[in-house]
Amino acid sequence: MEEKLARRRVVLVPVPAQGHISPMMQLAKTLHSKGSSITVVQTKFNYFNPSDDFTDFQFITIPESIPESDFKNLGPIQFLFKLNKECQVSFKDCLGQLLLQQSNEISCVIYDEFMYFAESAAKEFKLPSVIFSTTSATAFACRSVFDKLYTNDVLALLKEHKGQQEELVPEFYPLRYKDFPVSRFASLESIMEVYRNTVDKRTASSVIINTASCLESSSLSFLQQQQLQIPVYSIGPLHMVASTPTSLLEENKSCIEWLNKQRANSVIYISLGSIALMEINEIMEVASGLAASNQHFLWVIRPGSIPGSEWTETLSEEFSKMVSDRGYIVKWAPQKEVLAHPAVGGFWSHCGWNSTLESISEGVPMICRPFSGDQKVNARYLECVWKTGIQVEGALDRGAVERAVKRLMVDEEGEEMRKRAISLKEELRASVRSGGSLHNSLEEFVDFMRTL
Ligand code: UDX
Repeated sequence: MEEKLARRRVVLVPVPAQGHISPMMQLAKTLHSKGSSITVVQTKFNYFNPSDDFTDFQFITIPESIPESDFKNLGPIQFLFKLNKECQVSFKDCLGQLLLQQSNEISCVIYDEFMYFAESAAKEFKLPSVIFSTTSATAFACRSVFDKLYTNDVLALLKEHKGQQEELVPEFYPLRYKDFPVSRFASLESIMEVYRNTVDKRTASSVIINTASCLESSSLSFLQQQQLQIPVYSIGPLHMVASTPTSLLEENKSCIEWLNKQRANSVIYISLGSIALMEINEIMEVASGLAASNQHFLWVIRPGSIPGSEWTETLSEEFSKMVSDRGYIVKWAPQKEVLAHPAVGGFWSHCGWNSTLESISEGVPMICRPFSGDQKVNARYLECVWKTGIQVEGALDRGAVERAVKRLMVDEEGEEMRKRAISLKEELRASVRSGGSLHNSLEEFVDFMRTL
């Protein structure tokens, strides 16, 4: 059977952003290990430069003429719009060429749900398409019903009655209105337009979600039984089945040497992923709260993540004083290695889905400070469903930072969260082994691909 798959090529289309490229490349590696040939179609924006790990893969760059600066100027949502428009024709041409050139058959096109231009091209060539969601099943479910809820005035609360934002959204327990995945980069109307494009025009044959059934069984059942008429495969966390270098930025490995000198569970790791921003005043409050907590910390300050600064040059002397004693600062860390390090006892995170999965799979409890979109859903689940996180809400002041860090790193409450995180980690590890849910879901998807 594997031979049949070996002759067939899968074309993958990732969103050009770190949090989307990594899981797509992990999926590609996983399918390759099951015998598929792989073609990755990329944009020139945020081009992923493959290492020797990917020599068996074909990488194709499709032309688009969007200036790099548009990402910052338009924001991610409008940028996605533009990208989808720009890539429509070039992807169709590319797929046409591939069909002419390939001696082996194309079995399907797997595209990131936000690269919806890929679906219409696949349809035109009568190729099966598969949606890949790099966010949680719960966030995917929210997006699927967003238009309906908005049209029925349920989500109008997000805009008009600010006081009611604390209330629970019916049928989405424990999400509150304010946890719904709206972006701070765009208006509700623009977000809806993207969601309409990703949801309404679906003709795909199935959906893969980078999640595990032990984390989101009710959202997965909701999608499978009520929302989608196509099979849903929960194949995640993918980084646990395919560890492969996918970083767009250079990782500073010196932080591992620094961690080697610290006591077990004594360090809090702080990182906001690849897109979230932090204003100078917030940085100062976090630094001050960390200093007052007396804990050691490893802090990723990504270049460009402080509005108006290249890196940390606009931060004052006071900042350097506050972090010099117990802190270590890098521009970009080998995050999975950091979270696996015995010295790391907590993770201050923006709760991007990859960071969430990486933290859970290493049994590291979190302080949740979501920035935008699906991160709010993840933070709520970390705090109220898995109970392995503390969410810091409202204005960020040093007192709140100090309290949260002490609750997680010093108090009994943090120890309890750590125990729960470790038991979730064990569940995830079991799901990867033969007979486990991830393992079974992957096998089912491979069987499904054979029928396409
Ligand atoms: C974005 C969205 O924000 C996120 O919510 C969505 O689910 C995916 O796309 P991002 O904000 O970058 O992603 O966050 P996240 O999903 O956590 O992905 C960041 C990735 O960068 C992680 O895989 C993490 O390991 C990696 N990383 C981050 C590093 O390798 N080094 C770092 O220093 C920081």
